[in-house]
Amino acid sequence: MERSQWGTRAGFIMAAVGSAVGLGNIWRFPYVAYENGGGAFFIPYLFALLTAGIPILILEFTIGHKFRGSAPLSFFRMGGKKLEWLGWWAVFVSFIISCYYAVIIAWAMRYTIFSFNQAWGADTETFLFNDFLNLTVQPGQTGGIVWGVFIPLAIVWIITLGILLAGVKKGIELANRIFIPTLVVIFLIVVIRALTLDGAAMGLDAFFKPNFDAIMDPSVWVAAYGHIFFSLSVAFAIMITYASYLPKKSDITNNAFITGFANSAFELLAGIGVFAALGFMASQQGVAVADVATAGVGLAFVVFPQIINEFPGLNGLFGALFFLSLTLAGLTSLISITETYVAGISEKFGITRNKAVAFGGGLAALISILFATQGGLFFLDLADYYINQFGVAAIGLVEVVLVVWVFRKANLLQNHANGISDIHLGGWWKICLGVITPIVLGYMMFGLLRLNILKQFDTETGNYEGYSNMFTLFGGVSVALAAIVLGILFTLGKWHKDHAQFEENK
Ligand code: ALA
Repeated sequence: MERSQWGTRAGFIMAAVGSAVGLGNIWRFPYVAYENGGGAFFIPYLFALLTAGIPILILEFTIGHKFRGSAPLSFFRMGGKKLEWLGWWAVFVSFIISCYYAVIIAWAMRYTIFSFNQAWGADTETFLFNDFLNLTVQPGQTGGIVWGVFIPLAIVWIITLGILLAGVKKGIELANRIFIPTLVVIFLIVVIRALTLDGAAMGLDAFFKPNFDAIMDPSVWVAAYGHIFFSLSVAFAIMITYASYLPKKSDITNNAFITGFANSAFELLAGIGVFAALGFMASQQGVAVADVATAGVGLAFVVFPQIINEFPGLNGLFGALFFLSLTLAGLTSLISITETYVAGISEKFGITRNKAVAFGGGLAALISILFATQGGLFFLDLADYYINQFGVAAIGLVEVVLVVWVFRKANLLQNHANGISDIHLGGWWKICLGVITPIVLGYMMFGLLRLNILKQFDTETGNYEGYSNMFTLFGGVSVALAAIVLGILFTLGKWHKDHAQFEENK
């Protein structure tokens, strides 16, 4: 069977940027940067981007292009079953992420509608947790289904799976070609409007003011690496899968730089827009920016609605555009996350794309209902925390160590990329992948594991967010472990005969 292909180079870049630019850029980045040293955070951020993010992106593009398969198939072709499991591990991590990522998009979709008449009222926090999410159960309990979340969630899955059913070129590429330019235009309007608000300068000042002491703290570096991986969609199996649809004659390194810089430009823009708006709110309330800046869910779904409440004129429209950007950015990422397992299972079992979408996507959609229950937010928070640390970051580390040191494929991949790309990879690429990234990530993983194990036993500090041991083990640790166990189990099976042999892209 002919492998699906992107129609144009621009189509591929749009899809890769669409995957990278997601919820992480809009609500995660501004706060992570602010909390980890403000202006000074750009030092670890740029270091992580240039020594790990972009080099791994080039690595994944090259692997996908050369071995022309989903992540597990590409790794299998590169190093047999001893490497295939890594691809499945990444695929299962993506599977789990897709289950809760879809739910946050569903909230954003709902909030787009709420924006028009500020349905959240004056107390946006009570509205989010009590009225909207109906979070009245203890962590670990599900309670009933929250229909206000369930319905938009069903719509999110219908759109995502519908696009995937239409295929690589007519589905993924076309959707990104429409969604990404729309997102850029809408988001620019939001940011420019935010910059013209009273107090915007105060917000930007708080955002950019460097705290150089912060960068001496190792946890700030951990935050930078963790963020870069999530934001660039590397170590997710995504970029290997997307690059596998590139035609033979394609550029690799230049495309990776374009994707990496476009993603960072977008998140910088998000930081500027969000903090300009926070500065406005702080100045309206006569408080410091630090008093209004909060993390993740709180920032987008509690603080932003407050900003919209106080917005001078056309506030419904401003709010709707903000939440629409979040929805679009999220959808293009969810499409890519879901494509990893659609491609993986269709190749492994030799089933059609349609069946893989129905089976894989259908299962993810069903599981995601857990996060649309009354206790869904606790499950989401815990799964996200564990899967990011012991899924994405751990895979990044294992990937570079196995590819560069154990299987010694760096030269082979470098030659492949250099044979077709504008920008030639020099020794710096191998040093980043083989030396700098493993040292920093290794140190980081060791510290994290130690901290988490200690926390399990330490009654004083307690678990993440003070969750019970039981809930942490079942809702977090076991979820992260399940990805790796399932990955190994899937490796045991044989590849469908159509994929056992192939001719490499030379
Ligand atoms: N890269 C995607 C994001 O930033 C997953 O949300």
